[in-house]
Amino acid sequence: MEDTSCRGTTHNFKVGIYGWRKRCLYLLILGLLVMVIVNLALTLWVLKVMEFSSEGMGQLRIVTGGIQLSGQAMVLDALLASTIRSRRGQPITLESSRNFTINTRDEDGRIVNRIFLGNDRLECHTRGFRVTDTRGTVLFSADKNEVVVGAEVLRVTGDGGAIFDGTVQTPLVRADSGNELRLESPTRSLEVRAPLGVLMESRAGDISASCLTDLKLQSVAGAVRLDSANVYLSGLKTATPTPQPPPSRGLHPTRHEIYQLCVCSNGKLFLAPPEGLCAADNDSSVCR
Ligand SMILES: *[C@@H]1O[C@H](CO)[C@@H](O)[C@H](O)[C@H]1NC(C)=O
Ligand SMILES: *[C@@H]1O[C@H](CO)[C@@H](O)[C@H](O)[C@H]1NC(C)=O
Repeated sequence: MEDTSCRGTTHNFKVGIYGWRKRCLYLLILGLLVMVIVNLALTLWVLKVMEFSSEGMGQLRIVTGGIQLSGQAMVLDALLASTIRSRRGQPITLESSRNFTINTRDEDGRIVNRIFLGNDRLECHTRGFRVTDTRGTVLFSADKNEVVVGAEVLRVTGDGGAIFDGTVQTPLVRADSGNELRLESPTRSLEVRAPLGVLMESRAGDISASCLTDLKLQSVAGAVRLDSANVYLSGLKTATPTPQPPPSRGLHPTRHEIYQLCVCSNGKLFLAPPEGLCAADNDSSVCR
């Protein structure tokens, strides 16, 4: 038994790789080693270049719930997001080197509202526009039917003023304190109408009415009253009596001559000399 086993080892223990096979294997192992080293170096280089760290890559950090980029991000195509928010306590600026547009769409995908910031204008395409203050009071609202200015005062500062093609309905038109108020119609007539009364009052000044042709004061059911301690009708014509009356007894007042106030049948007033009848010649122009 021992002999046979001894003989067996001397014959079969020569297994292994020798010769060119062994050199090939060494070469292969060497090649693998080189590749591993190159791979490792490349990996390290890439890690170095990309600034990998335990928290992320370069300016990009992995945080719970997302990623955080502390540098600039350039999205050269569409960016889909549901909310864009500034950092806490920081302002946000949206900037466009050309036009800037914000659209909103309805369920069918049609654009229903648009804010457009273009070359030289801001446009807002929408059915209704509304500005409210923080308490919800409407300061300005505009839609197809009306424009409402809810602010306390609507001030038009332009020199041209405000132009209305229709009517202006208001319970009060008042000038600024310190300014005068004028109602003017430079080329057409002006009408003031109120069924329950028109009051013109000047508490500290005159009232003057002047016109080119007739000035008419008419009252249908009431009277025309002149209520004053002094009533002047200056410019009345004076009748020249036909028969010259005898000269007065020297009491003629020289400065304040007193005349008789007479009325023609057509209602015209005229003056007659103090002496004699309150009469005018038929042919005189006093009553015409
Ligand atoms: C910006 O908008 C105007 C219209 O207001 C248009 O004519 C112009 O072409 C737009 N410019 C660009 C760069 O889209
Ligand atoms: C004035 O006219 C009336 C008739 O119109 C006439 O009766 C009267 O005599 C005239 N008086 C004088 C002063 O001419």
